[in-house]
Amino acid sequence: MKSSFKGRDILSLKDFEREDYFHVFEVADRLRPFAEDRKNTDLLARKTLVTAFYQPSTRTRLAHEAAMHRLGGHVTGFSDVKMTRAGDFYQESIKDTVKMLEFYGDVIVMRHFQQGAPHEAAKWASVPIINGGDGWGEHPTQILTDLYTVYHEKGRIDGLRWLAVGDMRMRTMHSLAYGLTQFDCPITFVSPPELRLTDEFKAELREYDLDFREADHVKQAIADADVILVEPVVQPDYTKSRDEREGDVGLTPANYKITRELLSTKAKSDAILLHSLPRMDEIPTEVDNTQWAYYWQEAFCGVVMRMALLALVLGAQE
Ligand code: CP
Repeated sequence: MKSSFKGRDILSLKDFEREDYFHVFEVADRLRPFAEDRKNTDLLARKTLVTAFYQPSTRTRLAHEAAMHRLGGHVTGFSDVKMTRAGDFYQESIKDTVKMLEFYGDVIVMRHFQQGAPHEAAKWASVPIINGGDGWGEHPTQILTDLYTVYHEKGRIDGLRWLAVGDMRMRTMHSLAYGLTQFDCPITFVSPPELRLTDEFKAELREYDLDFREADHVKQAIADADVILVEPVVQPDYTKSRDEREGDVGLTPANYKITRELLSTKAKSDAILLHSLPRMDEIPTEVDNTQWAYYWQEAFCGVVMRMALLALVLGAQE
């Protein structure tokens, strides 16, 4: 049975049951034509989204804002915490901040450097909180986007074999693993030894019966993969509000790099290559115009998915 999303917080994919994914995909399919045709509608004309971004973002913030505009709604918020009282002398608390923000709009999307900050916000806010990425914790709307991209392209999720490459401390990797527990999808994780899944997280995934293994080199797993999800192995410190790059960060080793040559010699011809972006050199630009590159479609689906989530939590779609 479909559960209602009205008023629901979107904090973690641990909270999503299998039916929830298909429910969200169905609403995304319904709203997709507005984004495809670049035609706005008035579904959320009387609603306002508040963006509370304590960390930099290109896609997550702007895709939520674009989604709200497509649905005829309004947007207010901040993208630089230093310009707020939470980021200056006062270090205003999450509680005090959201007790203000809830009066400025009807739903809040929050990105924060502290793991669990959106969960803390949800304790105090009377409006739905959407987690736009919390420290190393989770990034549920990105992985909903990725699953929806695959669903749209392949017509199914079950039975597809995944390969995830990158830094396994990443919030996207945690949400991905939780998400796949609801599907029949074996997954191989490839990362540098020091950036592997923690023993604690692996124990949790075993409790969920996720069919996963780890490998040292993409060459060991790419031939079987239906979906290849890649992220940089060099990441900023996600526990900081902002982490400037200092000097050269080095090149991505071949073990974690998806080149055109690797794809054309080893990958399935219909494999889907995803990257939630931003990228470094782990997918060279020579891959962009190959049959495997689906990251631009993924970026488009990012707007559609946020349209679906906003419409659902605000009760404009069931
Ligand atoms: N994929 C993603 O989270 O991108 P941003 O950091 O630009 O939001």
